[in-house]
Amino acid sequence: MEKKNILIVGGGGREHAIAWKLKQSKRVGKLYAIPGNAGIASIAECVSDVKATDIDKIVEFVDSRPDIYMTVVAPDDPLAMGLVNRLNERGHRAFGPTKEAAIIEASKAFSKDLMKKYGIPTAKYEVFDSAEKAREYVKTCDIPVVLKADGLALGKGVLICTTREQALSGVKEIMEDKAFGAAGGKMVVEEFLNGEEVSVLAYCDGETVKPMPASRDHKRALDGDKGLNTGGMGAFSPVPMYTQKLKEKAEKEIFVPTVKAMKKEGRPFKGVLYFGLMVCGENIKVLEYNARFGDPETQAVLPRLKTDLLDVFDATIDGTLDKLNIEYSADACVCVVAASGGYPEKYEKGKVIDFGNSEKLATVFHAGTAVCKECGKIVTSGGRVLGITALGKDLKEARAKAYAAVKEVGFEGMYYRSDICSVGI
Ligand code: AMP
Ligand code: GLY
Repeated sequence: MEKKNILIVGGGGREHAIAWKLKQSKRVGKLYAIPGNAGIASIAECVSDVKATDIDKIVEFVDSRPDIYMTVVAPDDPLAMGLVNRLNERGHRAFGPTKEAAIIEASKAFSKDLMKKYGIPTAKYEVFDSAEKAREYVKTCDIPVVLKADGLALGKGVLICTTREQALSGVKEIMEDKAFGAAGGKMVVEEFLNGEEVSVLAYCDGETVKPMPASRDHKRALDGDKGLNTGGMGAFSPVPMYTQKLKEKAEKEIFVPTVKAMKKEGRPFKGVLYFGLMVCGENIKVLEYNARFGDPETQAVLPRLKTDLLDVFDATIDGTLDKLNIEYSADACVCVVAASGGYPEKYEKGKVIDFGNSEKLATVFHAGTAVCKECGKIVTSGGRVLGITALGKDLKEARAKAYAAVKEVGFEGMYYRSDICSVGI
């Protein structure tokens, strides 16, 4: 069998997990990554001086390597910028949605309007392009209220306001001070939903949707869901409260209607569609869509996949997901993120990482890591540094194994949540 070489675009924990899983495939040969990180570099050739957003350079790279069979585009920015379109135009095979489909994540106003048009359950909302009108509205709406900048803002463009004063200053922050940059040209003001969050990532080939096992992310920086919103401080899978009954309901009311809606809009979605759900008693509503694998949810879900990941990617691109049986192990998986002191605000980089025995006890996915040019050691280079991940026969066992490995790891300023997978399960 001829082995296939694959390029992965991105350089976080999610991309390390994708590369690690692809490496287990009998069909996969060499891996490339742009830019990758120090962990990915142990299994792939990394082009670390090209950014994931430098789509011209990425297209050039793929043009120059006829051995690349497929490019997997993992992060939101290059998807929204149309990297998959550009690769397809040049005859290259790419995994991920086109920019026309990635808009489901890139514009919250688009996704809310889509849900309204097709009757997909979500929080009630209004869209504003003027701060004045938004202010008028929040003067009278129910409190708490949720404010969202329209565009991509690294998961940080969401403000949950528990007082009217906060809501008024939030409008100013998003629309006038442009705290989230260009993402704040438009904003969504929506009803606050009370409930339990679940993330469901699903492979979609434009027609068929194949949900992966559910997971849950812990978005706040500190134990007890205190502190600032982050990209995610840990994740686990499965989620016991997400019962078979809820799963069937979500499939019928949300997953299938969303994929049909995107097709009807002339934006067929091919890739991984991430459903951020809120379970409110008997009801399930969509909090957000992402047009990609979640981070760190991917680290908690991919280790459970038994089917060859390249077969799944091929079927997604070729529109044959309906013919593929995708299997998962019954094991549970827990991922704990080790972060740099100060993250998600200011933090220092370049701290030498001591891995101890962690790699013997668990799978250590690298996120913000690099090899120090002077000392040759692995050092920190981002806010979320490692995703320490373990499988177990149940969540309790997986959690114990993951934390045993976390205790082996150290770098100056390192912090982690000690309650990943111990609340709400
Ligand atoms: P989003 O980027 O839209 O997923 O928002 C980030 C986080 O804010 C979500 O994971 C939720 O924890 C929270 N959130 C967003 N929208 C709402 C809402 N309507 N009600 C309650 N919490 C929300
Ligand atoms: N963990 C949330 C996300 O990937 O957007």
